[in-house]
Amino acid sequence: MKGVKTCANVHNMHQPTISIIAAISEKTRALGYKNTLLWHLPEDLKRFKKITTGNPIIMGRKTFDSIGKALPNRLNIVVTKNTEWKEKDVVKAPSLKEALDLGRAYIRDRAQTPENQKNEIFIIGGGEIYAQALPYADKLYLTLVRSDLKGDVFFPEWNQILSKEIFREAHTDPKTGVEYTWIELVRSNTTSK
Ligand SMILES: NC(=O)c1ccc[n+]([C@@H]2O[C@H](COP(=O)([O-])OP(=O)(O)OC[C@H]3O[C@@H](n4cnc5c(N)ncnc54)[C@H](OP(=O)(O)O)[C@@H]3O)[C@@H](O)[C@H]2O)c1
Repeated sequence: MKGVKTCANVHNMHQPTISIIAAISEKTRALGYKNTLLWHLPEDLKRFKKITTGNPIIMGRKTFDSIGKALPNRLNIVVTKNTEWKEKDVVKAPSLKEALDLGRAYIRDRAQTPENQKNEIFIIGGGEIYAQALPYADKLYLTLVRSDLKGDVFFPEWNQILSKEIFREAHTDPKTGVEYTWIELVRSNTTSK
């Protein structure tokens, strides 16, 4: 219909949602130790893949090193101060702000078909990048793991910034018995950043 904006068109006129996704200890907020993850939760990894696929993902250089390669079907943006740093299938950014700009440009420049309406940039870690990204975040996807394994990197306190819970689902890993909960949080005033 001429002159009538569809919901999809209106959606795309907005800035992308900036989302943080992390798996953390419910008690201590630990998220890693010696540049590795603390848990292996296959269903959580599946959820991570499902949520982030097709979107830009932003990570710190140490998190990239711990993964060891670009994650497929996502624009991988790695933040590093090292101008020499180079890896296959990765876009480098010298700051978080520039990483976010690259993510926005990717979404803006991509052909937006009815099947492809992605409008979310994901911050996937680690501790340094989460702390810097929290003030920009519109949404938080957290896996709260009931475990107090020792960590050396921690997720920042988020309650002051993102406090409105919109989703919660409890799970138990069938192999290890580890319990965890998926939660999603947005800003209580979702119109302001
Ligand atoms: N549980 C989870 O969900 C989760 C998710 C991701 C990661 N992790 C864990 O988190 C740990 C890694 O986190 P981390 O805090 O040590 O490191 P990180 O945040 O992954 O990366 C830090 C690096 O990012 C670059 N960087 C950070 N701020 C920058 C800035 N403003 N400008 C330019 N470059 C910047 C620097 O790279 P250069 O030194 O190259 O300049 C810095 O050394 C690992 O244990 C990993 O397994 C856990």
